[in-house]
Order: sequence, then structure tokens, then C-alpha cells
Amino acid sequence: MLSATGIEKAFGGVRALSGATLECSAGEIVGLIGPNGAGKSTLVNVVTGFLKPDMGSIVLDGREIAGRDPQRISDAGIARTFQNLRVFRELTVRQNVEVAFLRCRQLRPQKAAKVDVDVLLAEFGLAELADTAAGSLPYGTQRWMEIARAMATAPDILMLDEPAAGLNDEETKRLGQTISAICERTGAGIVVIDHDLRFINSICARIFVMDQGRSIAVGEPEAVWKDPKVIEVYVGPEAAV
Ligand SMILES: Nc1ncnc2c1ncn2[C@@H]1O[C@H](COP(=O)(O)OP(=O)(O)OP(=O)(O)O)[C@@H](O)[C@H]1O
Ligand SMILES: [Mg+2]
Repeated sequence: MLSATGIEKAFGGVRALSGATLECSAGEIVGLIGPNGAGKSTLVNVVTGFLKPDMGSIVLDGREIAGRDPQRISDAGIARTFQNLRVFRELTVRQNVEVAFLRCRQLRPQKAAKVDVDVLLAEFGLAELADTAAGSLPYGTQRWMEIARAMATAPDILMLDEPAAGLNDEETKRLGQTISAICERTGAGIVVIDHDLRFINSICARIFVMDQGRSIAVGEPEAVWKDPKVIEVYVGPEAAV
């Protein structure tokens, strides 16, 4: 459903992406991992139109979308959250989610018909906070709201950039369960970036590993963690031999 191949992106002299690949099918949870600076966020920014790729192809449902602007890509069915929170602080939780839903209803009424804002709020544990100003909520709750808001656009693909950052163990576990549940319920493909590898292993069917702008491995978790290239990046060169 989503296939990004051969993606290149440089910032001046820094080659942030040089041959990056990412795929995600409907109903699949895919992990995107790699050390700091590997290019994970840049890849998500390129796929979602916040950055233009220098090279490469991004195909969604058979259509090339590389280089389109973020709103058009969102309207085409790819939703995302950011590594840093982006919420409308003055609006209530419900309004934050509804803003996303209303645009979807205008542009993609058939998809929007499957979205129920109240169900989403309940699913993310936000029903009782629906009328609270988003900016007054704890950080973790704002993260939940961001994901609920992204889901209110009825996406075919959801991309989450470090959703577990700043959450405690209990919250992280609940987040994993919620991500799995929305994947199953909606059939969306979900791409999750995170440094919490236990979290990634527990929810992902497939993992893409990046290092220095390149995709160095892809596969099911067990296979990926046996790959010498992955071991070298995560544990050090001695461990790989
Ligand atoms: N706007 C930018 N201008 C210049 N360099 C950038 C920009 N964005 C990213 N980079 C560089 O591109 C490389 C990849 O960064 P990116 O943020 O994609 O990594 P990441 O894998 O998401 O890392 P982290 O795990 O720390 O979030 C890094 O060397 C980073 O410094
Ligand atoms: Mg990042």
C-alpha cells in the first residue's frame, strides 16, 4: 500500500538519507528503528511531504506522491504525529480531534463515515477529558490526543514518530495495546518509530532498520535481531563476529 524506495535527501553537506526504503501494508504495524541521526524522522518527513526528496519514489495505493505538499498527502490518506508535540493548546481535546475529522469529512466523505469521534476519544482514554483545554493536560495525555487526532482523518497509513517517548512503562504498554487495537479495528497500516526496542518488538510484524541514512535490514523481529549488521549498529562491532 505504501512503498518508499531509493529515497535520498541532503541538507547542505549532510546526507540525511541515501538509499532509504520503507513499506507498510494495510493492517500491518511496521517498526522503523535506528540510532540517533539515522534518518528516521527525515524519512517520515519526506513521506508525509514536510520535506521534498532529492531522489526516490513514494507510491501510495499505486499513485506516486513524492514531492506533494503535506496537506495533499494527508488528504491522500497518510496521517502522522511529530517527535515534538503539535497540539492546539487553546482548543479542547474534542475540538482538536474534530478539526481533523471535519476536513476529512469534506474531502473524503466515504472514509470519514467510518470515523466516530466519540469512539476514538474512548479508545484513547480521553472521553472524560473531552472538554478540557488540550494545553492544560499532562504531556502523556497530549501524546494520546495527537494519535487520536491523526486517526480522525481516517488514514490508510498512520506514522508515529516516537509515540512512547516520555511515557512510563505502564503507559507504554497501554499505548502498544491501543496501537494494535486501532490497527485491527480500522485496517490502517501503522509505522512506528521508537528507541524502546521492547515496545517495537512487542507490536511490530516487520522492522526496518536504518543507519546513517540507509536501510540496512528489514524483516520480522526475530530475523532482524540476528542480522550481523543490526547487531553491529546496536551492540558494537565485536558482538557481530
Ligand atoms: N532540517 C535539517 N537541517 C539540517 N540537517 C538536518 C535537518 N534535519 C535532520 N538533519 C540531519 O539529518 C540526519 C538525520 O536526522 P533525523 O532527525 O532524521 O534522525 P533520526 O533518526 O530521526 O534521529 P533521532 O532518533 O535522534 O530522532 C542527522 O544528521 C540530522 O542532524
Ligand atoms: Mg527522529
